[in-house]
Amino acid sequence: MCQCASDAEPKTKEAVELDKVLAKYAGKKGALIPVLQAAQDIYGYLPAEVLKEISAQLKIPLSKIYGVVTFYAQFHLNPRGRNIIRVCLGTACHVRGGAKISEAVTKAVGIKDGETTEDLRYTFESVACLGACGLAPVMMVNDDTHGRLTPDIVADLLERYK
Ligand code: FES
Repeated sequence: MCQCASDAEPKTKEAVELDKVLAKYAGKKGALIPVLQAAQDIYGYLPAEVLKEISAQLKIPLSKIYGVVTFYAQFHLNPRGRNIIRVCLGTACHVRGGAKISEAVTKAVGIKDGETTEDLRYTFESVACLGACGLAPVMMVNDDTHGRLTPDIVADLLERYK
């Protein structure tokens, strides 16, 4: 099939940005992680087609790229919500009812740990410790820390994040 440029779909703004990143790192050692980080900044996550493009351009097998992406928690293969809810289930928070906070989040936004709402408003993740154990149980929404939570205030609190 013809692959000439005139038949190609016009490139998206994101694809143009990705091309610039790939050009900058072409032939450089250790390029994979910074390229993946930049691609995730551009797209918000790492779509399969983008990983294929990175594989082709950097000449790194796709299997290796998936190995790296799935190893590091910073990389995401699925779209993420505008608001990231992190509920702590570390020891201090667990003892003080972290699981009930987690249940309240699920009830409020209709998703479980690891899921994203269809409208991309929220992503819900549980974490091992948020470093604010004295405020247990703790939840973060984006960069905001909410401590000494009770399940009954979770829904109203999340409603503030559009
Ligand atoms: S255990 Fe929850 S903040 Fe440390």
